[in-house]
Parts: sequence; C-alpha cells; structure tokens
Amino acid sequence: MLDGRVVIVTGGGRGLGRAHCIELARAGATVVVNDLGVGIRGEATEESPAEQVVAEIKGMGGTAIADGTSVTDFEGMGALVARTVEQFGDLHGVVNNAGFLRDRMLAAMSEDEFDAIIAVHLKGTFNLTRHACTYWRDAKKAGKKVSGRIVSTTSGAGLFGNVGQVNYGSAKSGIATMMLLTALEMERYGVTANAVSPIAATRMLATVGREADESGAWDKLDPANMSPVVAWLVSEEAGWFSGQVLRVDGNVVSRVQTWTIAESFNSKSGEAVTIEEVGLGLRKMLGAAPRGLGG
Ligand SMILES: NC(=O)c1ccc[n+]([C@@H]2O[C@H](COP(=O)([O-])OP(=O)(O)OC[C@H]3O[C@@H](n4cnc5c(N)ncnc54)[C@H](O)[C@@H]3O)[C@@H](O)[C@H]2O)c1
Repeated sequence: MLDGRVVIVTGGGRGLGRAHCIELARAGATVVVNDLGVGIRGEATEESPAEQVVAEIKGMGGTAIADGTSVTDFEGMGALVARTVEQFGDLHGVVNNAGFLRDRMLAAMSEDEFDAIIAVHLKGTFNLTRHACTYWRDAKKAGKKVSGRIVSTTSGAGLFGNVGQVNYGSAKSGIATMMLLTALEMERYGVTANAVSPIAATRMLATVGREADESGAWDKLDPANMSPVVAWLVSEEAGWFSGQVLRVDGNVVSRVQTWTIAESFNSKSGEAVTIEEVGLGLRKMLGAAPRGLGG
C-alpha cells in the first residue's frame, strides 16, 4: 500500500516509533528513521537506536536511512525535510512520535520539567509539521501533485487527563488541537493531518508499572498494534480522512471526539447572565438543582 512513498518517523528508534518504521517499510515505504537516542527522561546516552532500526529494515529488503537530529531543533527539522527530498525525490508523510516523560505533581513541577516536555512533544511536533507543510504548499503552488500526510502522537493523558502529567498532558492535548488546525489549513494543498493515541508496553509505559508480555502470544500492549493505523494514515488512500484522533487499544480502534458543546443555558433577560443564574444554570444542567431556589 505504501510503495513509492517517503515517510519520516521521529523517535523511530524505539518503542512505538520503531514498530511504525518496520510496518511502513513492510508496506513498501522508504523510511527516514529519526531518533536522538536519549534516555527515558530525555538524558543523553551512547545508544544509536535509529541505526539499529535501519539495519532491521535493510535486512527485510527495505529502504531506510537514519537521522539523529533532535525534534526540538527548528532549523534541524527544516534541514531534515530538505535532505529527505534531495535524497529520495519527494516527501509523502511525517509521523511525529518522539518524546519522553518528566512526570511530577503540579505543585512540585519545576520550570525545566515543564519546558522540556513542551519542547519535545508540542514544539517538536510543530517543527517537523511546519517544514513539511511549507514543502507541500510550495510543491502544490508549483503545480506538482501533493499527497501529504501528517500523523502526530497524542495520549490519553492529553485527551482524558492523568495525575502527575500536567506538562505532558498539556503538550499532548495541544498536539491533538494542532492536528485539527493543520487539517483545516492544509486541506487546500492535498495534505491530511491526524493524531493517534496509543497504549503500548514500551519503556515509557514501564515507568507507570506496565511491562511487555514476553509469553509470545499476541500482546494487547504490543506497540505494533498501533502501527497499521499509522501506516494507513500515511497512505494515498487515506486522503479523505483528516482532522481526527484515533485511539488504539489492543485490537480496538476508536475515533475520539474533539471538545463539543455538551449543554447550555441562557439568561432570562436576554442579555448577559447574572451571577445568580450562573450557579443555578450549571446545577440545572448537571441535574442537581439547588434546594430552595425552585430549580
Ligand atoms: N507507550 C505508551 O503507552 C504511549 C501512550 C500514549 C502516548 N505515547 C507516545 O508515543 C510516543 C512514543 O513513545 P514510546 O512509548 O514508544 O517511548 P520510547 O521511549 O520507547 O521511544 C521514544 C523515542 O523518542 C526518542 N526521542 C526522545 N527525544 C527525542 C528528540 N528530541 N528527538 C528525536 N528523538 C527523540 C527516544 O530516543 C526514543 O527512542 C511518545 O510521543 C509518547 O508520548 C506512548
């Protein structure tokens, strides 16, 4: 399904990103495996996981190259898009997946813990998305056929909330919204933008006490369970599907709804609501009318 397509995957060296790279290559894509090779809290290591994934893909008969630029580097992401196009002639998809955690309760969270998570997830997603979109906009304006696909990684923490992850959840929620806005802006250029919300036993999930199943049976938490959805989203065929969040839990794929207006109330006067009407209206909406106010 992905023959001839060129896709960049950030954080492609481990966990979910690695699984995505292998699935993309299996489906025929040329894969640029980006990974900085950092530790679970973003600290430097001696590892080069991107090279290992490239070797794996080449071993399968596929085409892949490694890249070690940090997604936090705006100019670096621009250079990555330019290099990819120079080497392979085009770019069809970007999968924003790189990231790490610095969990802490809000009252104790440091500025650095907040900034580092926003930088790698929210800004990192912006950086590559922005340069890919500039490339696709310019290609479309030059009369070329564009079939651009952006897949970014949100999280249950960003969609539904999770204790100890104000930094991460805020970044992940922002990523889901960024994809919605990107979808609206880029539709005219033949580009789709979607977000995925995985649940997988990677080293990241192990930090919250969930380990990979080593039994050899199909594993509900195998990162590879998410990858066919990512691979489909970058396909030519997926051009009709944009601005959505897909959550994958084992073998179940769900579409997550964006913020919607759940219910409303209005003032009696027809002008601005009064302070009394606010409490009363909210109680009424939530089905618990306050006693003595005739609700
Ligand atoms: N594992 C889950 O259940 C889960 C759930 C929801 C969302 N996610 C998201 O999925 C994505 C992948 O997570 P994972 O569980 O596979 O984690 P992981 O730690 O196994 O892999 C993340 C990879 O990103 C790389 N990376 C980190 N900072 C980078 C940077 N600045 N530039 C380039 N690469 C960088 C790391 O070196 C690592 O190889 C993350 O965005 C994560 O927030 C994971």
